[in-house]
Amino acid sequence: MKNNDIKWQSHDVDVVAREALFGQQSAVIWFTGLSGSGKSTVANALEQALAERGQFTYLLDGDNVRHGLCADLGFSAQDRTENLRRVGAVAGLMVDAGLLVLSAFISPYRHQRELVKSFIPNGKFIEVHIATPLEVCEQRDVKGLYKKARAGEISHFTGISDPYEAPEHADLVLDTSTLSLEDSVQQLLQLLKVKGMIS
Ligand code: ADX
Repeated sequence: MKNNDIKWQSHDVDVVAREALFGQQSAVIWFTGLSGSGKSTVANALEQALAERGQFTYLLDGDNVRHGLCADLGFSAQDRTENLRRVGAVAGLMVDAGLLVLSAFISPYRHQRELVKSFIPNGKFIEVHIATPLEVCEQRDVKGLYKKARAGEISHFTGISDPYEAPEHADLVLDTSTLSLEDSVQQLLQLLKVKGMIS
C-alpha cells in the first residue's frame, strides 16, 4: 500500500555522479525467453566480456533470486508478476547505483515486462529476446523440467502448460540454436556501444 507520508529523498551523489566514476551509462539488459533458451548462459558470457573490459555489472538470475528474495513465490501468473515486480524494483536501484544490470527471467507476459520497465528510467531498459525455439529448449532439457512438465508433474510450465508472449519490439533477438555464444556476445556489445552505455 502506498503511504503518502513517505517522500522521496534526494542525495548529492546521484546516478550521474556514479556513472562518471564508473565510466559507463547504467542500464538493464533484460533477457526474456523460455526455460532452457540460453538466457543465463548468454547473460553470463556477456557479463564476463564486460568485466574483462573493466565495466561494473551485476547479473540477476531467476533461479537464484527464487532462493532468497522471491523464495516465497511460485509460478502462477500472480506470483510471477510479484516475482518480477520485486526484481524490477531491485534492478531500478542497481541502475541508480550506476551498474550495468543483466537479468535472466522467463518473464512470460508482456504486461510483466512493462511493469519491470516502469521501474527503470527512460532509455535504460534494453529488451533482449532469447528466441530459441521450444523444440530445441525441450530437447536440451538441461534441468529435466520439460520431461516433468510433459508428465504433468509440474503445473504452469511456460511453453507447455502456460503461455509465453514474445516481445513485439525487442532491441535484439537472439536464437541460440543458430548463433554461437561468441556471436551473441558480439551483437550485445555492439548494441551497448550504439546505445552509448559503453565506449
Ligand atoms: S518467471 O516466469 O517468474 O520470470 P523465473 O525466470 O523467475 O520465472 O524462473 C524460471 C526458472 O524456474 C526456470 O528456469 C526453471 O528452472 C524453474 N521453474 C520451476 N517451475 C517452473 C514453471 N512452472 N515454469 C517455468 N519455470 C519453472
